Amino acid sequence: MLSESSLFLKGVLLGSILCVLMTMLAHIKIDYGKRTHHHERHHLQAPTKEDILKISEDERTELSKSFRVYCIILVKPKDVRLWAAVKETWAKHCDKAEFFSSENVKVFESVNMETNDMWLMMRKAYKYAFDKYRDQYNWFFLAHPTTFAIIENLKYFLLKKNYSQPFYLGHTAKSGDLEYVSVGGGIVLSIESIKRLNSLLSIPEKCPEKGRMVREVSEDKQLAVCLKYAGVFAENAEDSKGKDVFNTKSVGIFIKEAMTNHPNQVVEGCCSDMAITFNGLTCNQMYVMMYGVYHLRAFGHVFNDVLVFLPINGSDND
Ligand SMILES: *[C@@H]1O[C@H](CO)[C@@H](O)[C@H](O)[C@H]1NC(C)=O
Ligand SMILES: *[C@@H]1O[C@H](CO)[C@@H](O)[C@H](O)[C@H]1NC(C)=O
Repeated sequence: MLSESSLFLKGVLLGSILCVLMTMLAHIKIDYGKRTHHHERHHLQAPTKEDILKISEDERTELSKSFRVYCIILVKPKDVRLWAAVKETWAKHCDKAEFFSSENVKVFESVNMETNDMWLMMRKAYKYAFDKYRDQYNWFFLAHPTTFAIIENLKYFLLKKNYSQPFYLGHTAKSGDLEYVSVGGGIVLSIESIKRLNSLLSIPEKCPEKGRMVREVSEDKQLAVCLKYAGVFAENAEDSKGKDVFNTKSVGIFIKEAMTNHPNQVVEGCCSDMAITFNGLTCNQMYVMMYGVYHLRAFGHVFNDVLVFLPINGSDND
């Protein structure tokens, strides 16, 4: 006969074992869904710390100086507040940033594209950038004013990539058979791919100004069609753990999703530590990001990065 107290003890014991088991199960790392479509996608990975350490110190210094990113931001008059925020925040970290507007906007300096059509704006901006800067920059980054970009992480990602190769990258999506880089996450073209694009822009059969479809086709898909003709394919950029580094959503949305999907690892499960872009930000969020990325720091906490990208001489970036 079991006494009541030993029954109680057994219950407690069983309860604790179950509790331990549940906790263990909850802590087993879940593969966050994002990995499932890898095999179907073209993708490029960021270098690992070991990759960087393999580069000699002289070469690292040389690399960090020779990296030149030109930023294209497409704006419309309705975007003036975001435009101001972008200009005041992350765009300062580009080696050069220019705003391309649909019409003349008095408040800020911009290159007037004289069209409201996003695809025409994009084409004209790429042509302008290539004609004017092909000898000065090796990477071209295009974004909307709702995007926040961390240019140092972009440079880190591109460190071992060859800009003389034809490829372009960002956050890829699929539309039928077409794999394209979604403009929301920002689009990066190597100098070779912008060169090839430029040679196609004047050939309407290969790269038409108006899509052949009856319905409107977004500018990022039209770009992918043209680049495909030139042998340039879309690559999804990922960190060494396979997480996306170009994002079409804001941090806030990712955190919300993480709280629902894996509440034990909200921060770790949310986003890559080496994220390059977020999208869909309001003006306020631009400044919040700027504070979080470039100003706030934990005293005495050191990241020990093996490479530094210094701002160009005369830059007022912070
Ligand atoms: C980069 O690509 C170009 C063109 O294919 C090639 O000639 C060059 O050797 C490559 N550079 C490196 C460092 O791999
Ligand atoms: C930047 O400018 C300062 C002063 O004009 C100069 O002393 C320095 O050598 C320059 N640095 C580079 C990397 O050109």
